[in-house]
Amino acid sequence: MATDLKQAATDVRENAHAPYSNFKVGAAVRGASGAIYAGCNVENVAYPEGTCAEAGAIAAMVAAGETELTEVYVIAGSALPVSPCGGCRQKLAEFGAGDVPVTMATSGGVEEYTTLGALLPGAFGTAHMEG
Ligand code: THU
Repeated sequence: MATDLKQAATDVRENAHAPYSNFKVGAAVRGASGAIYAGCNVENVAYPEGTCAEAGAIAAMVAAGETELTEVYVIAGSALPVSPCGGCRQKLAEFGAGDVPVTMATSGGVEEYTTLGALLPGAFGTAHMEG
């Protein structure tokens, strides 16, 4: 795992807006160009309107003109490495292949490694929409 991706996720986590859960999350994705895009969770007083860190990183990537990601890093301050929620697994699968590596980390230094395919087996995709 490249340290630049870890650093980006760690740094952006500081900016998370999480006054309701007090659970700050940082995410960084690497686009196919090699560029890194970071995002943090942004909560809202109307709770369901909050957005996850992964969604922010993906939005930054797409806004920059990239639609393929090759690496994912997610970090939080929990004891267990943070695991992307179901919705974020689908969002990540939109832009990444099943073999894309995903690192789930704690700010205390624990890391677990998986892939997008392992996180979302049987993912709904474009093939399911064909006649
Ligand atoms: N959260 C993320 O940003 N990413 C994850 O992978 C798990 C959960 C956020 C959503 C909410 O702001 C807070 O963590 C508690 O669920």
